[in-house]
Amino acid sequence: MLVSAKDMLNKARDGKYAVGQFNINNLEWTKSVLLTAQELQSPVILGVSEGAGKYMCGYKTIVGMVNGMLDELKITVPVALHLDHGSYEGALKCIEAGFSSVMFDGSHYPIAENIEKTTELVKICDEKGLSIEAEVGSIGGEEDGVVGMGECADPDECKSIADLGVTMLAAGIGNIHGKYPENWAGLSFETLAAVKEKVGDMPLVLHGGTGIPEDMIKKAISLGVAKINVNTECQLSFADATRKYIEAGKDLEGKGFDPRKLLAPGAEAIKATVKEKMELFGSVGKA
Ligand code: 13P
Repeated sequence: MLVSAKDMLNKARDGKYAVGQFNINNLEWTKSVLLTAQELQSPVILGVSEGAGKYMCGYKTIVGMVNGMLDELKITVPVALHLDHGSYEGALKCIEAGFSSVMFDGSHYPIAENIEKTTELVKICDEKGLSIEAEVGSIGGEEDGVVGMGECADPDECKSIADLGVTMLAAGIGNIHGKYPENWAGLSFETLAAVKEKVGDMPLVLHGGTGIPEDMIKKAISLGVAKINVNTECQLSFADATRKYIEAGKDLEGKGFDPRKLLAPGAEAIKATVKEKMELFGSVGKA
């Protein structure tokens, strides 16, 4: 059964580790993430962007697929199904479809409007026992056509949003979706510490988990980050494994063109990436 991310994140904050959010794009991907979480006895959050939602034939299809897998694969670790960077309307649709967690990304609205819309969604999520993530200060880079400049969040604005009763807060601290540029200045731990000071116990979320050096990940966790989002790194490993399989001509050998064989190397590569991240984030054995 899908669960809200609340308990797993509070435990992670107290235990000084982070739960990974791995964005999913298809059935093989989802199965790989779930099997790895089960094998490593780690809690996990499956992230779904609005674009991935459309690609996978809508939120109801995803809820059906994930619930089916939890049952058929006998997954017993805590799993949350979470909308990533949702619009207000997208969040409502996911709540209706059976997601157990949503992110409302109101970071591009003026703060008053972000507060108003977040307040409404907090009320709905509370009534249904779902977790909700809010964002202050946009995350840099491009994701699903949404381009952010990577500003650092204002700690006072973070406090205003945290006080609305959200479960977790994503604060921009110089992090960027996708690959980090050569001249990236690194995470702003000054901002992170200032945000933590204002929001107290609120579990913090680090987006753009791909390509952040290990020491920065560990320092971020020590400063209150309890959830780390990874998307691009799984995409890169899936694509690379598939490309190597095709370049080796394996798709032309025997029954190598069978989609089950063609997608198997990508699915295995995702398992390896998820395992590496869970070990780094410290969530192994924490289910
Ligand atoms: P990356 O694609 O950089 O791993 O970021 C993922 C993310 O933050 C999803 O919200």
